[in-house]
Amino acid sequence: MTTSEQFQQDTERFRFDALAAFERSTTAEELEAARIQFLGDRSGQMRSLQQALGALPKEDKPAAGRAFNEVKTLVTEAHARRGRDLARSSADRAGAADLTMPARHVWRGAKHPVTLVIEEIVEIFRELGFTIALGPQVETEWYNFGSLNFPPDHPALDAHDTLYLKDDVLLRTHTSPVQMRTLQRFPPPIRILAPGDVFRRDFFDASHAPMFSQIEGLCVDEGISFVDLKAMLTNFARRLLGSARTRFRPSYFTLTEPSAEMDVECQLCKGSGCPACKGTGWSEILGSGMVHPSVLEAAGVDAERYTGWAFGMGPGRIAMQRYDIPDIRILYDSDVRFLEQSAR
Ligand code: DAH
Repeated sequence: MTTSEQFQQDTERFRFDALAAFERSTTAEELEAARIQFLGDRSGQMRSLQQALGALPKEDKPAAGRAFNEVKTLVTEAHARRGRDLARSSADRAGAADLTMPARHVWRGAKHPVTLVIEEIVEIFRELGFTIALGPQVETEWYNFGSLNFPPDHPALDAHDTLYLKDDVLLRTHTSPVQMRTLQRFPPPIRILAPGDVFRRDFFDASHAPMFSQIEGLCVDEGISFVDLKAMLTNFARRLLGSARTRFRPSYFTLTEPSAEMDVECQLCKGSGCPACKGTGWSEILGSGMVHPSVLEAAGVDAERYTGWAFGMGPGRIAMQRYDIPDIRILYDSDVRFLEQSAR
């Protein structure tokens, strides 16, 4: 190998090693050590190269000198660039980003307490073989009232209770029309749960809202009796509310016969009586009963062969009991301070 070839190789190696060493440096001290090794005035590798250049044969000097100068510029600039980068990132660390600061709060969103209660109820009934059925919020008078055995002069048909859109078309006042729509579409056995919003011309006060959630339940098959109703609803209440006492009260609904309402011991006062339970110690959570034969017949189901039980439940009431909410309007306020307390 001629001395000139040797020089070219050394220059190339110098360039490679110096750039790698600058790149590897992560602190100003490391970079300075690399600078001294490669660019140092006294014993740096570039100085040795320069001396070797001077010793080359005269005719090789111009080409070798040009190559040397190129590499010198490249390596010097690489060193300066790395120095600037390191200075910038250490300034970042020292100033702009304080790694000890608490993280910013991330708003993830969460489910409303009524939604949580609905999901829990759906889950309990799913284990008992119930599936979900949904129906429209805009209904005809027949689905909302007529088919459910409401007489034509029933007070619930009154415009005081009901939001009519047209003569015969209204916002459903309960989820019970979903019973009729399901019975028309599917033959028994039927076990459905129908959660959804319902609308009434009520004033907004501590215990009423013009729009609220209901969950309808319907079970129709051969040989279904009141025993099934009571057993299933008692089992349900125990699953949802634990050891809280429950009771059935005789009641009246047009769509059922006989009818019963189910109360749960008020969770706010533990049965001793408070404003939320109007001093009774009990909170009504659902209406229920054996499906009236004329409801089955309106849907074209053989009422001699099939019987059933049904219920309509207010998950808002249950949420109020569960989360100690004294005023129903809180459920509609979208006040984050309140919603955060039940958020899961
Ligand atoms: N639809 C009734 C209401 O909104 C509640 C109800 C009572 C539903 C008894 C039922 C039932 O399915 O069997 O007041």
